[in-house]
Amino acid sequence: MKGIVLLGAPGAGKGTQAKLIAGRYSLPHISTGDILRSNIKEGTQLGRLAKSYIDEGKLVPDEVVVAIVRDRLAKPDCENGFLLDGFPRTTAQAEELDKFAQVTHAVDIEVDPAEVVKRIAGRRMCRCGESYHISSHSSPYCDKCGAELYQRDDDKEETVAKRLEVYAEQTAPLIGYYRDKGVLFGVNGMKSVDEVFAQIAEVLDGND
Ligand code: AP5
Repeated sequence: MKGIVLLGAPGAGKGTQAKLIAGRYSLPHISTGDILRSNIKEGTQLGRLAKSYIDEGKLVPDEVVVAIVRDRLAKPDCENGFLLDGFPRTTAQAEELDKFAQVTHAVDIEVDPAEVVKRIAGRRMCRCGESYHISSHSSPYCDKCGAELYQRDDDKEETVAKRLEVYAEQTAPLIGYYRDKGVLFGVNGMKSVDEVFAQIAEVLDGND
């Protein structure tokens, strides 16, 4: 049973790697960012609340995201393992998670701050869930569904600066949290997507 959390700064490549990991290990990919964005799109009460935080680069309150993840992990597809992307993001969230799930691997994707800024600035999204980078995908349309790509609202320069500050203050301490528990695995995120995935697969295959 694998209980994986992906750590890493905004733009480090968590979503990119999560898709590959979920495919290879048949795990449900649970991204709190995706869940919140889909609520914003649907105009739910949760979405309206989340938008006020996300647009400013701040974290949505712990109790809100903990409740989302607790409900999601109670679903039958999580019985044999899970992959969390973007959760936990604070020590309080990590402590709550420990009460209802077992983390076997905390994979930290290590990327230089200058590189994450480049990755976020060049990221383009599709409403179908695909994500691209302008350096490797020059078309303004999605390869998968043909829709026009767009930039995430919180990928604007001033919001990115705030997200990075919040990451350093509130999320980076989780590296020590999981190291102390003996489940931290750092990977070099400065390599290509395939090379980063190879490092992660080595970690996951070697620690069943
Ligand atoms: P969330 O959606 O989780 O955003 P994030 O953590 O800031 O991460 P990103 O989605 O920006 O980046 P990523 O690491 O997934 O990188 P990606 O693979 O896309 O959260 C958004 C907001 O929601 C938060 O700010 C907060 O407000 C709220 N929220 C979410 N969870 C919360 C929680 N638990 N508590 C409270 N609030 C919460 O890659 C980035 C780009 O780089 C792409 O263009 C990609 O193609 C490219 N790329 C990826 N890997 C490589 C590589 N190896 N080489 C070159 N390019 C690469």
